[in-house]
Amino acid sequence: MRKPQVGIVMGSTSDWEVMQHAARQLKDFGVPYEARALSAHRTPDLLIEWIAALEKRGARCFIAGAGGAAHLAGVVAAKTMLPVLAVPIPSQHLHGLDSLLSMVQMPIGIPVATFAIGDAGSANAGLFAVAMLALHDPALAKKLQAFRAKQTAAVKAARLPELS
Ligand code: RP5
Repeated sequence: MRKPQVGIVMGSTSDWEVMQHAARQLKDFGVPYEARALSAHRTPDLLIEWIAALEKRGARCFIAGAGGAAHLAGVVAAKTMLPVLAVPIPSQHLHGLDSLLSMVQMPIGIPVATFAIGDAGSANAGLFAVAMLALHDPALAKKLQAFRAKQTAAVKAARLPELS
């Protein structure tokens, strides 16, 4: 098995529905990743052990998704010097605005790159990780270029429906 280049972590298995979009992008680009449900609040010691283990195995960045009082990405960033990409998970009562604000307002010195709430943020975090890895991987850069070209072609070919 190839060593994971990206660690995907989420506060709960209930976050997988959103976080699978980050995993999907990595899988489609052939980037090996490891995904775990580990919580900054419920399993802080396990989380910290996993971050160190993944770093040792050669991971290049982390993607962290959490909802509500979403401290996960900040804690990951506190424990690693690798880039941390944060995905705010839509929450039951405040629809993810709580998650977004918990993630985005980091203190100077411990940066976290925060993406949009929900599926789009998750997919884009995956794509952003691909773009970072592509800086030192020409084959991956070619795949990313092809992905963009296909996307552009699809928009060019799209037609709006005629009014009846
Ligand atoms: C957060 O609480 C998790 O990231 C999740 O978004 C939310 C709810 O978790 P569960 O109660 O579904 O486990 O920590």
